[in-house]
Amino acid sequence: MTQPRIPLAGVIGSPIAHSRSPLLHGHWLRTYGIRGHYIPMDVHENDLERVLRTLPAMGFVGVNVTVPHKEKVMAFADQITDRAILIGAANTLIFRNAGSILADNTDGYGFIENLRSGAPDWRAESGPALVLGAGGAARAVISSLVDAGVPEVVLSNRTRLRAERLKADFGHRIRVVDWVQAGSAVKDAALVVNTTSLGMSGQPALSVPLDGLHPGMVVTDLVYTPLETGLLAAARKAGCTTVDGLGMLLFQAVPGFERWFGTRPEIDEATRAAALK
Ligand code: ATR
Repeated sequence: MTQPRIPLAGVIGSPIAHSRSPLLHGHWLRTYGIRGHYIPMDVHENDLERVLRTLPAMGFVGVNVTVPHKEKVMAFADQITDRAILIGAANTLIFRNAGSILADNTDGYGFIENLRSGAPDWRAESGPALVLGAGGAARAVISSLVDAGVPEVVLSNRTRLRAERLKADFGHRIRVVDWVQAGSAVKDAALVVNTTSLGMSGQPALSVPLDGLHPGMVVTDLVYTPLETGLLAAARKAGCTTVDGLGMLLFQAVPGFERWFGTRPEIDEATRAAALK
């Protein structure tokens, strides 16, 4: 009698030691009693294709992809979901029969699910969203906000050209404002999102003036080290609803885990605690 294969998954990036995904998926595998494994893999760019072609033969059912490979892996995919095409990057690969690779991007999904979970009263239609930053993370955030029906995304980035490029890709609902003007856009926003690395431990503080924050607004930060960033602390003091960035990491992991291991995992306090270990 043939034994079923133990399903393997993991996360590919470089560096990878800091990744919380192995803690998270390991927690779910134990919680649901699944005989699988999820491991961190530090892979150099030059080895990326060879590694991806080899993993299915070793029993891998898929992998997450993180910095700096999210864009590059698109070239090795046999099929790409619409949302990954729109974002221009993939964070979740599913290996199918004979090793064919399906590339998906669940970052926007993770962002919006985390927002809806942490701020259940937020409505996309309620007003403009101010997005700070125009890097890879901002692309996922903006695609999900536009998809959710936000009337306007006010986008501000230190390097204006990058924001203009996002506007070219995502269309007329994006309005670009200069980085020095970002503070003046705060007061009219229904939602403020920081997608820059500012405010992260070891990085400079977010320099955008925040005196426009007021009750009724929702403020979220993709930075989750520390869990309460300077932006979130200021927002809490101003009476805003705040949503921390750890949840996005948890929610973006759900579709991959479900596809690879066949169980849709729950996100609860134990899940958060596991990812913070
Ligand atoms: P990610 O994939 O996490 O979005 P990224 O593509 O490197 O990472 O983007 C980092 C974001 O943080 C960018 O919006 C970057 O602004 P630039 O496009 O001008 O580089 C922003 N950022 C990083 N350091 C910054 C700083 N000191 N001041 C203002 N913005 C900063």
